Amino acid sequence: MTATGTILQRSLTVLGIESSCDDTAAAVVRTGPDGAQILSSVVQGQTTLHATFGGVVPEIAARAHAERLDYCIEQALETAAVTLRDCDAIAVTAGPGLIGGVVSGVMCAKGLSAATGIPLIGVNHLAGHALTPRLTDAVDYPYLMLLVSGGHCQFLRVDGPDQFHRLGGTIDDAPGEAFDKTARLLGLGQPGGPAIEGAAQGGDAKRIALPRPLLDRPGCDLSFSGLKTALLRARDAVLTPDGTLAHKDQSDLAAAFQLAVSDILTEKSRRAIVQDHPSPLSAFAVAGGVAANKTIRASLETLCADHNLPFLAPPLALCTDNAAMIAYAGAELFGTGQRDDMTLSAWPRWPLDTKSAPMIGSGKKGAKA
Ligand code: KG4
Ligand code: ZN
Repeated sequence: MTATGTILQRSLTVLGIESSCDDTAAAVVRTGPDGAQILSSVVQGQTTLHATFGGVVPEIAARAHAERLDYCIEQALETAAVTLRDCDAIAVTAGPGLIGGVVSGVMCAKGLSAATGIPLIGVNHLAGHALTPRLTDAVDYPYLMLLVSGGHCQFLRVDGPDQFHRLGGTIDDAPGEAFDKTARLLGLGQPGGPAIEGAAQGGDAKRIALPRPLLDRPGCDLSFSGLKTALLRARDAVLTPDGTLAHKDQSDLAAAFQLAVSDILTEKSRRAIVQDHPSPLSAFAVAGGVAANKTIRASLETLCADHNLPFLAPPLALCTDNAAMIAYAGAELFGTGQRDDMTLSAWPRWPLDTKSAPMIGSGKKGAKA
């Protein structure tokens, strides 16, 4: 498959900047007739800064971004062996996200653009995730994308670099958030996803029955909060008199939970695939930390094989927050003629598809997408 679009007609070098949650990132991506190449991708996480607070603290995040952006950009340019003046555009996440962090990135990008005259391009963070299969696999439009992370869950049909159709999304928790909370309920560590996946190995996923919320209703919306409550009840029913959980019960509960999430995501993905689309889909792609789960991945792969649809899962480093996806999205938008100026704003909320009904919930953990 080859990617199509104006951006591939000539070579473009784009600096990308990302600071919408708790990762400060900069990257240089080059696009050209032969496809896209990541020349560098620097990500500085902030996990340790927020660890004692039980979540991302917006003020701490914003300050850390402001302190680290210069360093990340210097590193990205140095690793790519280019100077700022070799770049054709500066792409920056302009939302959605924690506003202090987004402002840090946007102000930094504006400063660089004003000082050099290099065009500035504001990128929607979710578009960065959604366009990643174009960066990694040069997939043609339109394709389906399932974004499943700690703060997000939605189905998108990607019709173009700035054309997204949302088919459905979570009405309460995001799946990663549900994995994290469930891990706490089962006395497992954080992040919960890998902990549950590990504990589920060797567990009997069928012994404890858990619900599949919203499968009885048509459409692609999802719900995970009821599943978490059902798991809490199931756990309480098997607690030992001294309030602990036997290893076998912990394992079976983890396996039952993982299978329930997998079943929900697979059935909703099936509906997203089989519904009418204006033109044939070229692939089904996943992004976000939850897409790392082998049970979920295998189930979605089987589903796609059943529907003769290529299944794409970008490498994990490109599934989670990074600036290469922002640089790439910036290159595509540059190709469509988008240019921003000093009036570019930072947006805490910025839905990709403004025509579909707004989401009722997009995960309560925060703005991380
Ligand atoms: O995309 P991501 O790195 O960033 C956030 O949205 O925060 O996703 C992190 C989420 C966490 O909730 C984590 O528990 C979940 O992805 N996760 C997994 C797995 N690895 C990470 N969930 C299920 N199975 C996994 N193997
Ligand atoms: Zn993200």
